[in-house]
Amino acid sequence: MPPMQSGNPSRIAFIGGGSMARALIAGLLRRGVAPRQISVGEPSSEARTALQREWGIDAASADNTAAAAGADLVVLAVKPQDAAAALAGLHPTLLERAPVVLSIAAGLRLQDLARACPPGLAIVRAMPNRPALLGAGVTGMFAAPSVSAAQRALAELVGAAAGRAVWLRAESELDIVTALSGSGPAYFFLLAEHMAQAAQDLGLEPATAAMLAAETLHGAGLLAHQDIPLAEQRAAVTSRGGTTEAALRVFQQAGFDALVARALQAGSARSSQLADMLSAPPDSLNSSKRP
Ligand SMILES: NC(=O)c1ccc[n+]([C@@H]2O[C@H](COP(=O)([O-])OP(=O)(O)OC[C@H]3O[C@@H](n4cnc5c(N)ncnc54)[C@H](OP(=O)(O)O)[C@@H]3O)[C@@H](O)[C@H]2O)c1
Repeated sequence: MPPMQSGNPSRIAFIGGGSMARALIAGLLRRGVAPRQISVGEPSSEARTALQREWGIDAASADNTAAAAGADLVVLAVKPQDAAAALAGLHPTLLERAPVVLSIAAGLRLQDLARACPPGLAIVRAMPNRPALLGAGVTGMFAAPSVSAAQRALAELVGAAAGRAVWLRAESELDIVTALSGSGPAYFFLLAEHMAQAAQDLGLEPATAAMLAAETLHGAGLLAHQDIPLAEQRAAVTSRGGTTEAALRVFQQAGFDALVARALQAGSARSSQLADMLSAPPDSLNSSKRP
């Protein structure tokens, strides 16, 4: 193996080859990482075959140790409740090469990950979101100050693989990111659902209303992706005395801003609460179940 350089790993190992791992792998391949630089530990033979067929990943194995051998970066992509068991089986391999460990497991805090890993490893957390499946994701990332710039660059390669990545100042900000970008697609879907229903109630055909709502969400998303502030984008649609202004006034008079604030507070608080429930002494982490 050639020596590792910043952001240019010899090998990235995914532990867990489920939907989010596949989204990140697809992103890495799009960004020029070669299939032979990626290995996957995944129990399902169906999932391993799909990885081979779809992405040319030959190094997919039911044996996590084989998958992680020689990796500079190990991406923990199993469900949070499976993480401790997966990491426990990897200790000898992790000790051998001391790779950076990147966890995308929701709610598993650094202190819990550190407890489940051999001492001294660089551990990074990332919270991607579902649009990553289409390469349009956004990921919040956090690492302890002891993690070097080169190790962060390596982790960011995966964090940004399926969209954009942003580094956070504190681990607790991951709860806010979970409520904002993690759950956020559902809020927009809910709004679009209600818009379609309201249009239907006003007389549009259901299929027409649903199509118009979904396409509007898509188009607004594309516009929002431009480097223009959201308020400016909104103002560009809102002419004085017009239809948009009339509709927005109803939202505002009903306390839409306070409602959104309360929703994000609830999501963030729930994220923190779930992390508390996952956070447990070493032997009980194995049996932690997400409610
Ligand atoms: N999907 C999202 O939108 C999203 C967003 C943010 C964060 N995340 C996080 O990403 C992680 C993965 O989520 P996902 O949606 O990709 O889940 P998933 O589709 O269920 O993938 C997890 C995979 O890990 C496998 N697995 C279980 N135990 C394992 C072990 N010991 N070693 C190796 N592989 C093992 C599972 O196999 P079996 O099915 O055979 O058990 C499954 O294929 C989760 O921690 C989640 O919190 C997901």
